[in-house]
Amino acid sequence: MKIPALFVLLLAGLGLLSACSKPAATSAATSAAPAAVKIGYLVKQPEEPWFQYEWKGADAAAKKYGHELVKLGVQDGEKVMTAIDSLVAGGAQGFVICTPDVRLGPAIAARAKLTGLKLITVDDRFVSADGSFMTDIPYLGMSASKIGAAQGSALYAEFQKRAWPVAETAVCAVTFEELDTARERTDGSIAALKSAGFPADRIFKAPQKTTDVPGSFDAAGILLTQHPGVKHWLVLGMNDTAVLGAVRATEGRGFAAENVIGIGINGTDCIDELRKAKPTGFHGSMLVSAPSEGFNTSEMLYHWIKDGTAPALDTRTTGILITRENFEAVLRKEGIIE
Ligand code: GLA
Repeated sequence: MKIPALFVLLLAGLGLLSACSKPAATSAATSAAPAAVKIGYLVKQPEEPWFQYEWKGADAAAKKYGHELVKLGVQDGEKVMTAIDSLVAGGAQGFVICTPDVRLGPAIAARAKLTGLKLITVDDRFVSADGSFMTDIPYLGMSASKIGAAQGSALYAEFQKRAWPVAETAVCAVTFEELDTARERTDGSIAALKSAGFPADRIFKAPQKTTDVPGSFDAAGILLTQHPGVKHWLVLGMNDTAVLGAVRATEGRGFAAENVIGIGINGTDCIDELRKAKPTGFHGSMLVSAPSEGFNTSEMLYHWIKDGTAPALDTRTTGILITRENFEAVLRKEGIIE
């Protein structure tokens, strides 16, 4: 049957033609084992060192396997959809993503399926409309509760070392509870502090509106104003950025570095801070290997495309504590610094 030209134009305008024709073209290419593998690596906050180090690992995988890598910043849902379309147009067969919003999961997964792209999620796990994790999409990320617990235990150990009176000390927990991995980390940290014996009524949450330094600076600033009697602060948060903003807020309110113990998570976004000639209240971080996450997700995707080996659905990474004392050596060993 001949389709009238005007109808063809209409379908194309609605995006229906490309939507219908692409999966067929892509799957045909896949079954013929494409010689040139091309993958995308999409991240929500390309300005954050964590994601730049993930990209560094993805670059290393591309070098090892000889595939093409397209790195894109996707700060919102519209950018994600545009990125997927440009990957399809450019002949990519799959992508790794840390989504700007986990609730976009069902839409991203549907788009990937429609366009025939293989999809692996990293860091922030997709959630369905009912709030449950989308366990059918391969995911690689932190053992969030465990790493949070290690952060809490490290804070407690340092608090004991300084022998601060409990009655003059409190915890500033910078939270971002709408993101599951963030909530699991801060919950794990708070639980560890409580089980070590820190009084629950001296642990205060400061919800950040945005996951950047200004967001945590503002959140902690409000909390510090509400508790003027506290002389020593323990600071925790879902990542280095959360803790850095809060440490800056304590400085702004006149706290000396020796009266603050901040421990972050990531270990990648605090390198300049730990390198400062004079110590700040930022004591250390739970380092997780961002380059390994970038390398491993890319490798999994490469094998999936090239050999049809489906990746594990849930892979978790662990962390270790870095402080001013050991960070240079550990980060060098991890390949994070030269
Ligand atoms: C989230 C955070 C990042 C980093 C990753 C690690 O995406 O926003 O800073 O901690 O988790 O999984």
